[in-house]
Amino acid sequence: MVIERIVDTSTHDADNDEQVIELTLRPQTFAEYIGQDHLKKNLQLAIAAAKKRGEPVDHILLYGPPGLGKTTMATVIANEMGAGLRVTAGPAIERAGDLASILTNLADGDILFIDEIHRLSRTVEEVLYAAMEDFKLDIIIGKGPAARSVRLDLPKFTVIGATTRAGALAAPLRDRFGMNHRLEFYSPAEISQVITRAAGLLSSKIDPTAAAMLAERSRLTPRIAIRLLKRVRDYADINGDGIIDIKITTDALSLLEIDELGLDPADRRLLASMMEHYGHNAVGLTTISALTGDEASTIEDFHEPYLMQIGLIERTPRGRRVTLKAAKHLQQ
Ligand code: ADE
Repeated sequence: MVIERIVDTSTHDADNDEQVIELTLRPQTFAEYIGQDHLKKNLQLAIAAAKKRGEPVDHILLYGPPGLGKTTMATVIANEMGAGLRVTAGPAIERAGDLASILTNLADGDILFIDEIHRLSRTVEEVLYAAMEDFKLDIIIGKGPAARSVRLDLPKFTVIGATTRAGALAAPLRDRFGMNHRLEFYSPAEISQVITRAAGLLSSKIDPTAAAMLAERSRLTPRIAIRLLKRVRDYADINGDGIIDIKITTDALSLLEIDELGLDPADRRLLASMMEHYGHNAVGLTTISALTGDEASTIEDFHEPYLMQIGLIERTPRGRRVTLKAAKHLQQ
């Protein structure tokens, strides 16, 4: 059974309606995109320069925790370049042939967005970085002694790679990216703006105090902010007159079991079992995973970045450790 967590940042099991809403809410231009100011400045410069030279923009690697807007940024870059966008993901490109077919179908100037790029196989990775380097594709035709290698010219394209873990990328592939940027957590004020903008697009009325409260509990992550907004809007439509005020927001968040720091029951369970078994001592990721039953990658990619950002978990050479702040929070 797939359990959809309200604070889950994966998009895989979101139903169709939600996906459509998400797409319409997505900013299309830098002007609409809230936050990530440093990244935006760098990208705006690179795009302006590329356009001036009449060339595609250099390959771009975006990394950071899920839900911070890597895919959205790729859409914005494509729009700002006036380029076509092809979207795929590491696990979807199983063989070198799959990649060859994608690459040979690109048009000049197209942007190829590869989500979860760290999940490409080594063989596919090798074909990709050769293609990124000189826009050529070497393919082998035939088998055995009759096999011969043919070199195809590819259109000039841009790869935008997205990953939650830049460290998991093979160095030769990482080196092919002319730009390499980390997406940062948003400030509560920025998340509040994202919520207000989305509420406007959804024709929902939200009080500024309610937007601020939702922002405080959205793990500094737009994807979660928008999900929470939609759930609170449901609550307001059924239990009120549709207006999202502080009372409706408090009650809806309590129903969703999201606490003042934006933690859900799974986060609290994670912290509580680390505390129970190890106190404030360091513990390894695989042990935490065995304790909670969560996959190590879920803990590492999803829970941990936010828990570290707000100072509830610390990383030490010997593993992760629960902080005093976390212990105090759990006692509340
Ligand atoms: N919706 C989701 N992320 C956003 C962002 N960064 N800016 C504006 N709207 C958004």
